[in-house]
Amino acid sequence: MGGFAGSHHTAVAALEELGEAKLIATCDPRVKSFTIEQQTWRLAERGVQVYSDYRAMLDACHRGLDLVVVPTPINLHAEMHAAVTALGLPVYLEKPPTLDFAELEQMIAADSRVRKSSLVGFNFIIEKPRLALKERLLAGEFGAIRGATLSALWPRPASYFSRNNWAGRLMMNDRIVLDSCFGNAMAHFVHNLLFWAGGTELFSWGQPAAVRAELYRAHAIEGAYTFFVETDTTSGVNLRFALSHACAGASTHLEMVLCDKAVLRYVVGRQIEIRWNDGRTEKIAPEPFDPLVENHRDYHRYLRDESPRPATTLADSRAFVVLNDLAHLSSGHIAPIPAALVSGVREEKEQKDYLHVSDIVAAQENFLVRGAWPGANGWNRQPGEVATPADLGRFHEVVKTMAGK
Ligand SMILES: NC(=O)c1ccc[n+]([C@@H]2O[C@H](COP(=O)([O-])OP(=O)(O)OC[C@H]3O[C@@H](n4cnc5c(N)ncnc54)[C@H](O)[C@@H]3O)[C@@H](O)[C@H]2O)c1
Repeated sequence: MGGFAGSHHTAVAALEELGEAKLIATCDPRVKSFTIEQQTWRLAERGVQVYSDYRAMLDACHRGLDLVVVPTPINLHAEMHAAVTALGLPVYLEKPPTLDFAELEQMIAADSRVRKSSLVGFNFIIEKPRLALKERLLAGEFGAIRGATLSALWPRPASYFSRNNWAGRLMMNDRIVLDSCFGNAMAHFVHNLLFWAGGTELFSWGQPAAVRAELYRAHAIEGAYTFFVETDTTSGVNLRFALSHACAGASTHLEMVLCDKAVLRYVVGRQIEIRWNDGRTEKIAPEPFDPLVENHRDYHRYLRDESPRPATTLADSRAFVVLNDLAHLSSGHIAPIPAALVSGVREEKEQKDYLHVSDIVAAQENFLVRGAWPGANGWNRQPGEVATPADLGRFHEVVKTMAGK
């Protein structure tokens, strides 16, 4: 009921108002902490049954359900997906499905027991302008795709890392968590970049062939919240990612796709531009888009056999999960950002505290445009080693070492 689950409640209630869905039951182990929310969502008037244990909820209600929404902490996704699919039901599973490539394979196997595939809720794959632009890319209008870059700076206050017991954790109870900006909050954009670099099908994602990465932390947490990652895909497209939460001020994010005849610039929710090499600029207005309402609708269409596939299946998430795991393998350790570059920023209006890295914008630009790694340019760390999918066998050991186990 809390965190992003609250947003799902709001979206499902809106669809229920329109007669497009009906919420049968919900659960949260901290159900008593959400009395105000339960009143706001009018759960009693709507006849929604409320449980504190998801197993009791599934036992009591599964015969009356078409799908189960799982917007819970990442480390619970696999067990909940397994319990739901064992009952023959599909899942609207929040992204990331898991951040452990081996667990993802188990989830893909579990999903095959159900007639309909589960959806992984990466928000932006179904955006109409994105799909239209990818169709044009595949038709060859912009020439061959050579590379793509993602830059994202999303400030997160100190309180973000203490909002629950899994934020910033690499492992919990000997299980992989790997919470980070790359694997969690900005995972949408990483998955989007892989989507631009996919194969010849519309719904396809570039597969990482070789990855190099440098991972950093500024906050006193176990995991990494500043990532520099480069991969070549199996089809030879070079992708660079520079992401951080160690910043203050306004949030920025930009997906850029570099083609022979044009550069595509895509800023979710704000701006879409095609900058042609001949000097023309084509602007495409982003449409108003409620990610949750629209993703629920899109998934319902698939469940009613009105569309051929969900936007992202578990198998479609392989590229993202493997890239995340290879980035950790390549980096080998999480380096502290030199203290001289980090300062505290108090935002009085919000009453929140941020850490800001003074050269974060320049470090991102140097990496994305020139391929210059921060470790060799003032951030004082050894470069990451090249990691390929053949190295995944070492992944669990490397994460354990990173977590000091
Ligand atoms: N799509 C998006 O834009 C978006 C945005 C934010 C978060 N998310 C995703 O949503 C998921 C949840 O993230 P969060 O930050 O809201 O997490 P959270 O820790 O706030 O947990 C969400 C809710 O799950 C409940 N929960 C915990 N254990 C449970 C259990 N055993 N059974 C039932 N409920 C349980 C918690 O009490 C809480 O109310 C993650 O996968 C995250 O990546 C997606």
